[in-house]
Amino acid sequence: MMPSRSKDPPALPNAMMHRMAVLILALGASIGSWVSPTGADEATLGGPFELIDHNGLTRTAEDFRGSYPLIYFGFTHCPDLCPTSLTAMSRAVDDLAQQAPAKAERVIPVFITVDPERDTVEAMKDYVGNFHPRLVGLTGSHEQIDHVTRLYGAFSAPVPGGNGEYLMDHSGFIVLMGPGGEYLTHFESHVQPAELVEELDRRVAE
Ligand code: NI
Repeated sequence: MMPSRSKDPPALPNAMMHRMAVLILALGASIGSWVSPTGADEATLGGPFELIDHNGLTRTAEDFRGSYPLIYFGFTHCPDLCPTSLTAMSRAVDDLAQQAPAKAERVIPVFITVDPERDTVEAMKDYVGNFHPRLVGLTGSHEQIDHVTRLYGAFSAPVPGGNGEYLMDHSGFIVLMGPGGEYLTHFESHVQPAELVEELDRRVAE
């Protein structure tokens, strides 16, 4: 079940969220350190990280070697984008399991929070259970989250919400990494499960 407040519309109009995103992208480009899955630096995405999973266990990039992590950045208070993307990822893993079980087993859906302040281990455990039994939720310190966000060319920024709450504007892509920790491809946040399944079936080795 989703928290009831996720039914509330965002307090900020979408246009303002978009302007902020454009501003952040422009700022990133101007300091020359920005990498984006849609840019030219895709080959450099990924790298060593250390985070804490939704069971409180330390997880590093090395733990995912030999698997195909399907990674999404977001936050548990997200009203729409995150639930949509995580639902699509979960559906895709289940559908792939029907047609190619050995491949599906090698795909690990991963949800990395950009809101470590609120997304504690307990909050992540409650949340990932809504989507898929194999979904791995990852959180950590602000420094650890900043680090992994940069590694994957993701972005996030807090924006004021209602009732003194805040939302996180964030990138919405889903990244598929390979068994050696290499970038393979990425998908838009509103990708259909069928498209995900087709691409996973094509890219994942048994
Ligand atoms: Ni979101």
